[in-house]
Formats: sequence, C-alpha cells, structure tokens
Amino acid sequence: MDATDMGEDLKEVLVSAEDLDRRLEEIAAEIDRDYAGKEILLVGVLRGAVMVMADLSRKLHTPLQMDWMAVSSYGSGTQSTGVVKILKDLDQDVSGRDVLIVEDIIDSGLTLSWLRSNLLSRGAASVEIATALRKPKSVKIEVPVKYVGFEIPDEFVVGYGLDYDEKYRHLPFIGTLAPHVYAN
Ligand code: IMP
Ligand code: MG
Repeated sequence: MDATDMGEDLKEVLVSAEDLDRRLEEIAAEIDRDYAGKEILLVGVLRGAVMVMADLSRKLHTPLQMDWMAVSSYGSGTQSTGVVKILKDLDQDVSGRDVLIVEDIIDSGLTLSWLRSNLLSRGAASVEIATALRKPKSVKIEVPVKYVGFEIPDEFVVGYGLDYDEKYRHLPFIGTLAPHVYAN
C-alpha cells in the first residue's frame, strides 16, 4: 500500500518510510551497544508493533528471542484507563531475562506502564521500552522509555502497523487521515 492507494483519505505524511528506516537503524545501533554481551528478549505488543518488530529485529546484531503479548485496556471508548487485560500472554518465562518491549506508539503511556510493572513483577532482570512513535501526553506518566523513534504531535495517525478501524496497517509510512474518513 502507498500514498496513491490512499487517494483522498490521506491528509499528510508525518514520517516517511525512509525516515523510519534511518531512525530504526540508529536505534538498533544504540541497542546493540547497550546490550553488548547479553541476550535480549524482544516482547512485541500485538498487533501494532508487528512492523517495528520485523524491521528493528532485523537490524540488530545482538542475540535475541522474540515473543508476543496481546493486551486490551479497559476503558470507555477511546480513553485508556490503565487497567489492562492480557488477551495473549508470553510463551517465554521472563525471569532473569533482559526484556525489551517493542511498541508502535505511546499515547497516554498507561498500557506500557502497566506492562512494564507486570514483567518486572515476574522477575525480569531488566525491562526497557522501544517505541517507533511517542505522543506528548505520555510525558505526564512516569514510564521510562529508553528508545524513541519520533516524537509526534497529539494527532491520530495510521500506517506502519497502526490502524484506524483495522485499516491502513500496511502503509509503509506514518500519516494522518482526512476528516471525511472519520465521518463514514
Ligand atoms: P496508551 O499509551 O495506553 O494510551 O495506548 C497506546 C495504544 O493506543 C497504542 O498501542 C495503539 O494501539 C493505540 N493508539 C494510540 N494512539 C494511536 C494513533 O494515533 N493511531 C492508532 N492507534 C493509536
Ligand atoms: Mg499497540
């Protein structure tokens, strides 16, 4: 899928595919440096993190394993409350492991804050977070995010794993949608 396929539905490209690729390359180099001599357990949060996981993991030289979690936050409508339900748990035991959570975007940060505490309580040796995107709201909550791709404005975005109504996940860039899309 590309901008042409979006037609009138695309408002603006916020982060191009090239910028995503270049930034992930930098982050991978940082991670390789920080985890030298260790083995990483990458934990992807389904489903949005699929693209970041695929691209970031292939840029890493550090030995690693991959696992996945699916969570849903309880809350009314679009407001995240920070109360999280595990829909699919990890297959791996995290005790003693150096865990790196891989996320697509951090908005309120409530989901990740909960997830980080949860993995630490299971005895992970360390839990860090890598996210492709971060919105300003998450600064309010004390969740330490070690690796951030891009800080973006507080706008709803799609692409590179992120969806609107399960659509647009396969866009290679991050974009915003024209208002008429939400009216449908
Ligand atoms: P929060 O950080 O707990 O508020 O939740 C973040 C989750 O909300 C992300 O993992 C996404 O699934 C979803 N989300 C937040 N902002 C956006 C957006 O702009 N587009 C698509 N999904 C989003
Ligand atoms: Mg997500």
